[in-house]
Amino acid sequence: MTSRLNGILVVVSFVALAVVAVGAQGPYKGYKAGKALIAHRGASAYAPEHSAAGYTLAIAQGADYVEQDLQVTKDGQLVCLHDLTLERTTNVKDLFPNRSRTLTREGRELTGWHVSDFTLAEIKTLDGGSYFAPTFKGEKVLTFQEAIDLIRGKAGIYPETKAPEVYGSLGFDMEKLVMDVLARNGLDKYGADPKTPVFLQSFSADSLKKMRLKMKVNLPLLFLVTDRDRDVWLTKEKLAEIKTFADGIGPAKGIIAGRPEIVGWAHAAGLSVTPYTFQSDRPVGGMSVADEMRQFLYTFNVDALFTNNPDQFPRK
Ligand code: G3P
Ligand code: CA
Repeated sequence: MTSRLNGILVVVSFVALAVVAVGAQGPYKGYKAGKALIAHRGASAYAPEHSAAGYTLAIAQGADYVEQDLQVTKDGQLVCLHDLTLERTTNVKDLFPNRSRTLTREGRELTGWHVSDFTLAEIKTLDGGSYFAPTFKGEKVLTFQEAIDLIRGKAGIYPETKAPEVYGSLGFDMEKLVMDVLARNGLDKYGADPKTPVFLQSFSADSLKKMRLKMKVNLPLLFLVTDRDRDVWLTKEKLAEIKTFADGIGPAKGIIAGRPEIVGWAHAAGLSVTPYTFQSDRPVGGMSVADEMRQFLYTFNVDALFTNNPDQFPRK
């Protein structure tokens, strides 16, 4: 009798473990149940993007992940900045007035203070907070390592290889730089730190292919898709192709609003869906940002989203 009871307990335990395991491998390769909140450049509706203040606020507002757009300095350091140039979010014009120049970047001429023309030491002299509001004066541009130090154990990280082809043409292997930093932190493998999940993202299919197919990266990968590339990539056939080098798609939100059936196609292909970017300063159709996010999460059934307003994310 006892051995039969033990046998039943073993079977029940096995089934319970299997359910947990399957849950962990769900469409978002999730580390937790439910929809995922990604703080876009931090809590960037309320604090300077990619600043310590913005990342800290995003965590306080319940972000599951905090996003890092990555650029490469002249001396090969990864820094958290959205733009290829420094002038929009720092006081570089004041400190280095003669260092602007015009370069061809991503097929067009770009004039400005290029990140790749400045060493990390020079970038660290800049004020990255005043552009947003005087109260944030003194915020510094963060390195990727500093971002990890700030976020680790409190939320996930969501680094993006920005313009990897540009940095490749300058002699930098951006994907290797990113993975080396993650490896030094013991975060380069899926599930390495359950408190700090890592999701990598890029607009560059080649960057993602390199990581998944050549470097054998097993962290989840998100392929970002612009409005311009919608018809190139978001067909049933192309979604199956995306699945060979990524685990999810990150479409501009207007794509999903126009064709919500893409979410079902992506899920059928085994891809998660994480649209961008939900922000209170650009209301759509008279809706609050919370209502807009609710519609995407619970009517269109996306798995996660990028928002500048983590405090407005509707958990249900
Ligand atoms: O990475 C998701 C979203 O941030 C894409 O847009 O231009 O803000 O990097 P962008
Ligand atoms: Ca981004």
